[in-house]
Amino acid sequence: MQNAKLTLGEQTFELPVLEGTEKELAVDISALRTKTGHITFDPGYGNTGSCKSEITFIDGERGILRYRGYDIEDLASQATFPEVCHLLIYDKLPNREERAVWRKRLTQHSFVHESMLNFFEHFPPTAHPMDVLSAMIAALPAFYPDENDIHLDIIRLLAKTKALVAIAYKKSLGEPIVYPKTDHSYTANFLRMMFASPAEPYVCSKTQEDALTLLLILHADHEQNCSTSTVRMVGSSHASVYASVSAGISALSGPLHGGANQEVLEMLEAIRQEGGATKKYIARAKDKNDPFKLMGFGHRVYKNFDPRAKLLKKSCDAVLAELHIDDPLLEIAKELEEAALKDSYFVERKLFPNVDFYSGILYRALGIPTNMFTVMFAMGRMPGWIAHWKEMRDNPQERIHRPRQLYVGNPQRPFPPIAERK
Ligand code: ACO
Repeated sequence: MQNAKLTLGEQTFELPVLEGTEKELAVDISALRTKTGHITFDPGYGNTGSCKSEITFIDGERGILRYRGYDIEDLASQATFPEVCHLLIYDKLPNREERAVWRKRLTQHSFVHESMLNFFEHFPPTAHPMDVLSAMIAALPAFYPDENDIHLDIIRLLAKTKALVAIAYKKSLGEPIVYPKTDHSYTANFLRMMFASPAEPYVCSKTQEDALTLLLILHADHEQNCSTSTVRMVGSSHASVYASVSAGISALSGPLHGGANQEVLEMLEAIRQEGGATKKYIARAKDKNDPFKLMGFGHRVYKNFDPRAKLLKKSCDAVLAELHIDDPLLEIAKELEEAALKDSYFVERKLFPNVDFYSGILYRALGIPTNMFTVMFAMGRMPGWIAHWKEMRDNPQERIHRPRQLYVGNPQRPFPPIAERK
């Protein structure tokens, strides 16, 4: 591979060009400042590769997503969520024996320390579940002190996230919590812990279980997005996996990231209440004087149909039909999508539906309340965050993350005595 050449004034510098597995190219500027005294300027990091990673490949132009080399379509149709967790974290699909042990441990560790339950009593009923989850994950190491066993930490995080989410929901309703059952799958257990009550036992259907599995798998990783970069950033200081993942949850809570799925449903609901005013909302999204954006549309990386949105749209149709749910919001979503895909504003900017556009409708069909959508995303993303944290910590060459900046504030100025301050 030929080096890149950078000319600054009279001098020309050679910069190595690196090539990834899928022939993607990167100019290696890691020695730029030492060689030239310059830094690069890339607000929002749109052109910056922050690391080498072996976990997930995305080709946003062609709408491709692969975990550890496997197409998302194959994983979505043939794997379980715990298998995908194992794959992402350990780069291996578990064999029959490994799968049985992995499943058993994930169930055993879904019980949470009884003292932790006290925490839930003290969150106000208005607390957003994302704030609760982030706090509870950060608190986990206090209850499970350092045993220097990262594999145990990984199991605990995957297993207890599911329990913490379900407990937060039960507590918000004032209902008793439901303990997991060892003979249930990860997803069936979660649905039972959410929806069983002393008055009514809950048995989820295969369709519901499969729909949740699909949702979790599709959210499991997405390379260096905002929350994953946060996890790597925090972990680069050698903060624990719990502290790093808790920071990732906070990053995910923003409406431009994981919070978008909740906003999509709120937007669809507002359109419904206004008698199906899709045209009005499309016009608002295009109006530069209006801060409104079409939620669930656009993506920093995908400039083609998000493959996850394609799979979810298909699943939405199947699940709603099988559960005999007639959801007017699905019709509005389809209308909105059709109108946007024909509109030159969206076509020119390559704005397509992203994963959040249809996920909310599926969550709703499963009985998950709107304010818990982002928490469901966090549960799905947990293996991705852990995989990235582990990849970084296993790499002896990783340094603490510390970007530079271009200072554009005041130049040095004399400090005024208080009498002269206006
Ligand atoms: N509605 C209307 N216009 C949009 C939208 C949208 N949803 N998304 C982008 N645009 C416009 C921008 O205003 C910009 O227009 P301009 O060129 O005339 O200035 C152009 O499209 C390019 O957009 P960027 O801002 O460069 O896109 P960026 O990569 O910075 O942002 C983001 C991506 C945050 C996802 C954005 O598309 C957005 O806010 N979408 C809505 C929120 C959403 O759905 N988020 C979920 C993302 S997926 C996830 O996190 C799992």
